[in-house]
Amino acid sequence: MSSVQELISRRSQKLVQAPGPSAEQIDTLLRAAVCAPDHSALRAWRFALIYREHIDAFADLAIAATRRSGREVTAQKEQNTRKWLSTVPLLIGMAYKISHNNEKVPEIEQTLSMGAAAMNIQNAAHMMGFSSYWSTGLGSYTDEVPEALGFDPLDYRFVGFLAVGTPISLPSPAQRPAPETLTTVWKPASAG
Ligand SMILES: Cc1cc2nc3c(=O)[nH]c(=O)nc-3n(C[C@H](O)[C@H](O)[C@H](O)COP(=O)(O)O)c2cc1C
Repeated sequence: MSSVQELISRRSQKLVQAPGPSAEQIDTLLRAAVCAPDHSALRAWRFALIYREHIDAFADLAIAATRRSGREVTAQKEQNTRKWLSTVPLLIGMAYKISHNNEKVPEIEQTLSMGAAAMNIQNAAHMMGFSSYWSTGLGSYTDEVPEALGFDPLDYRFVGFLAVGTPISLPSPAQRPAPETLTTVWKPASAG
């Protein structure tokens, strides 16, 4: 399959299991991440790796922190979250260091660059035979979870987690929109 066909066939897969990426493969994923376009070379992307042996403890933290922040986590939601995470080989927490009051690179561009880095990880993981799933659950929007990962919300914008591993089941092909329904062609008025 050509590289572009690989891109087009990517699907997010929430349920993943071992084997996860090796240390060398994680390095490759992160090398893909730091190829993201980066206005003014801010190098703002940050990644916090949570390996299998610590993911259940992280689930404890994320669920408790979410409750402490005042958001509801029902017993069913807690059970589903723990079940999901129980087989995930690797979580990658992602944040960028905010360049405050940067007149050349407004924060929307900083956010976009972080999104591009995350997407590069997802595409690289797919090309390497893994699946990934981007989640902004797990306490992403609390202060406590990003802080626990080393991202003080005053200085960092946390953008969620990628769960990475081997897909548990084969995905059905995604229903994607026809791009022409989302696309226009601009011409100057003089072009008629
Ligand atoms: C920034 C971001 C955060 C997301 N957070 C969640 C989430 O918390 N829960 C969820 O079910 N899907 C979430 N998604 C969507 C999935 O990661 C995934 O993109 C979606 O299921 C579509 O699958 P696809 O990538 O195969 O099209 C998020 C997507 C993005 C871009």
